[in-house]
Amino acid sequence: EEDPPYVFVVFGASGDLAKKKIYPTLWWLFRDALLPNNVNFVGYARSALSMEQLKASFEKYCKVRESEKETWDRFLRKCAYVQGKYDDAEGFKCLQKLIDGMQTAANNIAVNRLYYLALPPSVFADVTTQLKENCMDKGDSWTRVIIEKPFGHDLQSSRVLSDHLARLFKEDQLYRIDHYLGKEMVQNLMVLRFGNRIFNPSWNRDNIGSVLITFKEDFGTEGRAGYFDQSGIIRDVMQNHLMQILTLVAMEKPASLNAEDIRDEKVKVLKAISDIKLEDVVVGQYIGDGEASDESRRMGYKDDSEVPRDSKTPTYAMAVLHIKNERWEGVPFILRCGKALNEKKAEVRVQYKQVNGDIYPAGDLKRTELVMRVQPNEAVYLKMMTKKPGMGFGVEETELDLSYSSRYKDTRLPDAYERLFLEVFMGSQINFVRTDELDYAWRIFTPLLEKLEKVTPTQYKFGSRGPPEADELMRRHGFVFTG
Ligand code: BG6
Repeated sequence: EEDPPYVFVVFGASGDLAKKKIYPTLWWLFRDALLPNNVNFVGYARSALSMEQLKASFEKYCKVRESEKETWDRFLRKCAYVQGKYDDAEGFKCLQKLIDGMQTAANNIAVNRLYYLALPPSVFADVTTQLKENCMDKGDSWTRVIIEKPFGHDLQSSRVLSDHLARLFKEDQLYRIDHYLGKEMVQNLMVLRFGNRIFNPSWNRDNIGSVLITFKEDFGTEGRAGYFDQSGIIRDVMQNHLMQILTLVAMEKPASLNAEDIRDEKVKVLKAISDIKLEDVVVGQYIGDGEASDESRRMGYKDDSEVPRDSKTPTYAMAVLHIKNERWEGVPFILRCGKALNEKKAEVRVQYKQVNGDIYPAGDLKRTELVMRVQPNEAVYLKMMTKKPGMGFGVEETELDLSYSSRYKDTRLPDAYERLFLEVFMGSQINFVRTDELDYAWRIFTPLLEKLEKVTPTQYKFGSRGPPEADELMRRHGFVFTG
């Protein structure tokens, strides 16, 4: 039996995402022999590039070791480049010819196609239309299309895009990437909840006081401020990455591990989320730290020449969401994300309520917290009270700590993209965003984004914890800083 051939085509092959993420990911998967045997990679872009030039653009991000040189050469021999326009059939016909050649070389077994659109939204529609007309499988193999956000700018534009895609492809051909779904700890959420009897019975409004989902970065938007200013932190991170985490934390147990069952449950959570009130939101924008004359000063958002002087685009946002269902009514889900903060960190913090009938001196008992640290240093830890060891009677807070770096020393945790690419090869859509899911997420955030257009974000310093009002908002919703 001959192995079926596959082709992975990268549209936007000369762009930033392709060189920094997509090619390195393909290389690592290839190097570790995780891809099907007979796979070829094709880059497609408008510029006249030789394969040598394309290679030069991604090579340094691939981190090829000396001992891997031979495998690297084999990888490169499987790479090709097609120059073509995005709105003209000619290039797509060349691509189709190239794929036909792969079929001939594989004893005429039809080629499975993965098309990755690492492209700006402005050419999305053209490329997909051309693909549909010129580059589809003929029924004895499959075609899957992978797309990257932004999936529209608001509910309306997202619907236009989704309708367009639905005219061309079936839902099971569409793979909308949200790379947070590929992260180890995000994938672990379901196992923790549904694989341990201890958590699920307490996973509700009777026991949980609040859920805090945090995304912080310690760098600003330099290099991509042009894109960022059109989008802002809510579209860039909150509406997708943080909402995906929220739905996994909040959803009911799905009927099975099947992609449709899981995504059905996520959609139910989104449907139950109430409108976000402006008073439950804090937005911020970072300014430079230090004096303008100071050479080591990190510049503020608006100091960037790509950002308009009067930009009101938030680089920090906190929003408190409420899920109106039997499990969660009254429990605030606090989403918080920001650029240019004091640290780089992403985590989920489930804060339990104060114990009832406290018998210890007032204030001694801290709240139990279950923390799932997505990055850096993946960990799950439970902050809990214990007797202070020794002669005394006092209590203190301690941790039950599962740090992956010590418990799973010898396991390499794959990059999110590696896992997600493999899932596309396998045809698993569990970790990809379904059309209705996207639609409901936009329904929640579009009205808020419209209201925020008139709001001037609070300034915060590069390297700080963000606007102080955010802590205030958390306290108002019952979050307790345990220190
Ligand atoms: C991207 C956002 O989706 O995620 C970026 O556009 C952000 O603004 C990035 O920096 C964060 O991803 P990671 O995997 O580095 O946490």
